[in-house]
Order: sequence, then structure tokens, then C-alpha cells
Amino acid sequence: MKTIKLFDPFISKEEEKAVLQVLHSHFWASGAGIENVKKFEDYFKKYINCDQCIAVNSGTAALHLALSLFDLKGKEVILPSMTFVSTAHAVIMNGGKPIFADIDEKTLCLDSEKIEDKINKKTQVILPVHFGGMPCDLKSIQKICKDNNLELVEDAAHAAGSEFNKEKIGKRGKAVCFSFHPVKNLAMPTGGLIAINSKNSKPIVDDLKSKRWCGITNRENMEYDVSKIGWNYYMNEFSAAIGLTQLKRLNKMNSIRKKIAKRYHKEIKIETKMPFDKNCSYHLYWIKVKNRQQFIKEMDKEKIEIGIHYKPIHKMTYYKNKIKLPITEKVGNEVISIPVHQNLKDDEIEKIIKTVNKFS
Ligand SMILES: Cc1ncc(COP(=O)(O)O)c(C=O)c1O
Repeated sequence: MKTIKLFDPFISKEEEKAVLQVLHSHFWASGAGIENVKKFEDYFKKYINCDQCIAVNSGTAALHLALSLFDLKGKEVILPSMTFVSTAHAVIMNGGKPIFADIDEKTLCLDSEKIEDKINKKTQVILPVHFGGMPCDLKSIQKICKDNNLELVEDAAHAAGSEFNKEKIGKRGKAVCFSFHPVKNLAMPTGGLIAINSKNSKPIVDDLKSKRWCGITNRENMEYDVSKIGWNYYMNEFSAAIGLTQLKRLNKMNSIRKKIAKRYHKEIKIETKMPFDKNCSYHLYWIKVKNRQQFIKEMDKEKIEIGIHYKPIHKMTYYKNKIKLPITEKVGNEVISIPVHQNLKDDEIEKIIKTVNKFS
């Protein structure tokens, strides 16, 4: 029996050609040679229609750098606990304090009604996550930011190609962070990107570009200066070359994910499951099951890979604190991700639905 994979990047001859071209160019790092990284930034900027794009080597790096735009020392950032741990790590890496707020049970995104009572004089940023690719309640969150003079940074790691108000996610927050990890809708070996939206984006972009390469500034021929601390967060040329081919078919791949999600929503008989929304990129499709251990055993027997996204961050040893987030905790005990990627065959989708429905 063949295993049905939970995640599976799409690979074609185009990716093979792109990788070989970089290999033989001898320019593997970015900033030289065939400049795939620069091209990827330009094309992704056009795709989401934001002001500027800065490519980096992971979603984690994108979040770290994006939050470095604000002086977070002694300041607080409001975010969900139902997310990958990088979202919170990025706050700590910048000297800030993550303040977890509860999620909306229907979407698993930050509940905009649970944000305001977490705001105080120390609050500086709201950091929502478009969970599974489902656009969060951006309209309300933007209003809260405006009313309280807070910055909006979005974790769009799951949301390449998701839409909000007829525009691609990436055009709203001051900084919007994407991940192109191999399991993501737009897959690279490793990769990430910060989309910037600001009336005056040049100083922001200069700052981020310097920090993504060791704080280097004023580079001219062999001369350069270092005016701040920075990291080695460059995207490499192989990732960008693969990313360019993936970007060309991102809409098509996402439309396949949407078709599968629509079927799941209609045919899966479990009551609590991810809603269908044509604006969602369906990086994940989640369901909630009461007897999760038994469910995991059954899926394993049928060779269907599944995942748990996520164990709440505030329950992790490093972050453990006494706050109560009732919805997050309930979801954390029941949530399961089932395969929803573009490589699934009809008979595999049918098998997934049939096996899941044994638990309805
Ligand atoms: C919600 C979320 N944020 C951030 C990240 C970090 O991205 P990366 O793995 O590219 O560092 C991920 C990756 O899994 C994620 O799912």
C-alpha cells in the first residue's frame, strides 16, 4: 500500500532545468550571476502588488527581520498561540514579549474580539497568522491597530496566494512574512520573504537588506562598511530559481487545493472542520476529532499521513505560562491536518474521505 503524503512539493522538468542552470552558472549565492533572487523579489512583488519585497532564507528569518523594524525591547506583541513556534520566537529574538490571545474556533485565526483587552501601554505590534491560508479578520485587526496606534505585521507563512478583499495577502501589513519551506504552497528547499507596505519604504528596505547580510552597508567594489548587527539570511540562487517556476503555477496549484478542500467540506461528515472559502490557499485542511489517538492509529494503518498543527506555544516548556486560552487549548487537543496538496489523486482523496468518515 502506497503512503499518501501529508505534504508533497510539485516537481517538473522546469524545476530540474532551473536548478541545473544555477549549478552550472557557478553563482550559487545571490547578488551575482543570473540574479534569480532579485528576479524572484520583483515577480513576487508584482504577484501580491506590495511596495517592496526582500527575499530571505526562511519564514523564521522573515519574521525575525520584520520585527527588528521596531524597537521591541520592553515592548509587547500580541499573537496567537496556535501557530508554529517561530512566530513567537521572532518576538523574543527582538527583545520583546509575546502576548498570546485566543483564536476564533471557526477559522483558528486570531479572534479580533480577544485582542483589545490584551492591549496596554507596552503593546507595539499585532502579529496575526493566516492559519492554514485562511485570511484572518484583517479588517477588524487593521482598525484596532489604527485606533491604538499599533503596527501590523502579518505571518503569512501559510498564505502565498490567499486573498483578502479581492487582493492577494501581502498588501496590507507594514511587513508581511512568507515562508517557502518545502511543505508550503510555493515550495523551495528553504526560503522566505518580507513584503513591505509603507509610504516611505526605501529606508526600511535598506535596513532590512543590510541586516539580511551581516549588517553590511555602503558596498562599493571591494569596499564596505558595517553599521549595525546583521545575520546571514540571504536566499540562495537555487531556492529562487525553483521559486520562480513555482510562482508561475502557484494559482493553478492553489486552485487544485481549493477543489480538494471543497470536496472535503462537502463530503467529510465530521462536524467541526475547516470552512470552505475561495480566498483561502489551503496550505492546511484541518478537522477536529475527539478520539485523536484512535484516529491517528487508523490513519497510520491506512498509510495516510496526517499532522498536528499545532500544539499551542504557551504549552511548550520554554513558553509555559499560566494564561488560559480556552479555544486554543481545546483545538490543540483535537486538531488534525489531512493531506490537501496538488499531487493527490482522485482515488487517494476518496480514500482519505472514506477513512475520516469512519470517525463521524
Ligand atoms: C505559521 C508559520 N510561521 C512561520 C514559519 C517559519 O517558516 P520557516 O520554516 O520557513 O522558517 C512557519 C513554518 O512552518 C509557519 O508555519
